[in-house]
Amino acid sequence: MSPATLDVALAWQGICEARRQNWDAAAALTLAAGQLRVWRGGAWQAEAPVTAEATALLDSLLPSSATSGRFVIAQLGQSLDGRIATITGASHYVTGEASRVHLHRLRALVDAVVIGAGTAFADDPQLTVRHVTGDNPVRVILDPNGRVPATSDVLQRGDAPTLHITRHPLPRETLGAHVESLVPDGAADLTPSALLDTLAARGLRRVLIEGGGQTVSRFLADGQLDRLHVVVAPLLIGSGRPAVSLAEIETLDAALRPPCRTFAMGDDTLFDLALRK
Ligand SMILES: NC(=O)c1ccc[n+]([C@@H]2O[C@H](COP(=O)([O-])OP(=O)(O)OC[C@H]3O[C@@H](n4cnc5c(N)ncnc54)[C@H](OP(=O)(O)O)[C@@H]3O)[C@@H](O)[C@H]2O)c1
Repeated sequence: MSPATLDVALAWQGICEARRQNWDAAAALTLAAGQLRVWRGGAWQAEAPVTAEATALLDSLLPSSATSGRFVIAQLGQSLDGRIATITGASHYVTGEASRVHLHRLRALVDAVVIGAGTAFADDPQLTVRHVTGDNPVRVILDPNGRVPATSDVLQRGDAPTLHITRHPLPRETLGAHVESLVPDGAADLTPSALLDTLAARGLRRVLIEGGGQTVSRFLADGQLDRLHVVVAPLLIGSGRPAVSLAEIETLDAALRPPCRTFAMGDDTLFDLALRK
């Protein structure tokens, strides 16, 4: 009997299985009910015909799941003119439905999802996996100045364990039982590398930096990202909160030009940037 077509459901199964493997060996592993051979780094070969949608899914996500050790990916959904929200912080929604499913897939592939205080304050997001099958990651809120109110859903709803990293811990009794406050010792503890060390020490080695622009930019500037997924939607916001902002450069020789692949995502385009081999 010839093997069934490899569709999106089977491709997603293979990607989730890849995320749970030990990729220290260089040999290919057989996943997705024997239909998919995957190599460390995300190269793959199928035993059966693969649908176009499943091919795009495997190409865009296996490089982020067939990896060992620490892995950090960031994603931003931006307009054509590089904005992730209006000036008042409205961001629902810059990107389309397919891109939101993609974001939920990224959440399902990591141990922890990190957001900055600006996003927690503006969006109060759930940061859970709802559009696909998978487990909710630990939520990490970077809120050094204690700007995020105790009444926020993210500090009240027990959908996922939550780390509130702040110099101004809120009274324990005002927070949900799922929330732990972590108080940094000093500025050094808040560098992206120190924050990732803190998470790794808790077994949270695969991390998604979900925004906003300032938070992603800090991790990018510090050289802590393995991959960056920028989803560009065909709209012009005109002004508003910027996506990536880095230190000024004088000539384009100094611009970052990482290896990049693109994928259609509904009306949006995903730019998958490999920042580290
Ligand atoms: N379209 C998208 O993909 C997307 C995704 C996420 C968010 N958003 C939108 O983006 C907007 C917020 O983005 P934003 O760039 O203004 O802010 P943000 O990145 O969410 O938050 C920035 C703040 O987080 C804290 N922070 C982040 N990294 C830190 C670090 N390493 N050490 C210490 N503190 C750190 C700082 O808080 P303090 O200022 O208190 O020091 C910093 O000012 C919202 O409107 C949200 O709706 C859009």
